[in-house]
Amino acid sequence: MRIERAGNVGAFVQDVDLRLVGAADLNALRSALAEHEVLFFRNQHLEPDDHLQLAQEWGSININRFFRAVEGYPAIAEVLKEPHQQGNIGGGWHTDHSYDVEPALGSMLYAREVPEHGGDTLFASVSSAYASLSEGLQRMLLRLRAVHSSRHVFGEAGGYSGQTEGRIGNAEAAVQDAVHPVVIKHPASGRPCLYVNPAFTLRFEGWSADESAPLLRYLYDVVGRPEHTYRLQWQPGTLAFWDNRSTWHWAVNDYQGSRRLMHRITLDGEPLSGLGSS
Ligand code: SIN
Repeated sequence: MRIERAGNVGAFVQDVDLRLVGAADLNALRSALAEHEVLFFRNQHLEPDDHLQLAQEWGSININRFFRAVEGYPAIAEVLKEPHQQGNIGGGWHTDHSYDVEPALGSMLYAREVPEHGGDTLFASVSSAYASLSEGLQRMLLRLRAVHSSRHVFGEAGGYSGQTEGRIGNAEAAVQDAVHPVVIKHPASGRPCLYVNPAFTLRFEGWSADESAPLLRYLYDVVGRPEHTYRLQWQPGTLAFWDNRSTWHWAVNDYQGSRRLMHRITLDGEPLSGLGSS
């Protein structure tokens, strides 16, 4: 197995068949994910059972409560956009599940059908974004916590509420809010990571949404700078495995009239601690 840095975030893992990973490979992949924050694998041949087995070897699976599942596989979410659909899933910077008390570790997204052009996914490193801030701002952020929610996205009146088409539902499950440190200590790498995101963070704890907005907007601008990002062009058989605690992602919606079908398995995470915690 060879690991080659992709760019400012992420790495390509070469010479591996994900149907055949053993214990030594898994250890190497765990270290690589902590180091590079998102891993890319080309030319894989995963049936849903193979995908499931890979995820189960890594950890326990977090069953998505908002996306439609692949038929016969409740643990595999279908990330699908049909040619007639306009909106896509994940079309803006976000990290998954920050509204959960124990946010998901990350997701393994496998490309089954991709458009001839477009449909890339952008990734951003929130550890490198944090490291780029001034020492004064870093110190101030260490004291803050932020409130996250899914209500305004997946709830009854949320942004996805009009986009039924069998893809997203279960608005009544969008009731859980969570509070996390704004700077977390990454559970595997120990790196400080900026843990706010434009999709699910509402405000800083103890601050109003209006008071929070300017600083949040500044932080979002920093994370989205090219020097913290990488753009993945998918091919059928590409798998991306991202860590939600150290990255954001954005599924670019620039392929109207084409079909894009991905299978996603999300893994359970753990409660997040601030930098001062052991
Ligand atoms: C997602 O946000 O999980 C979807 C990412 C993608 O389809 O590229």
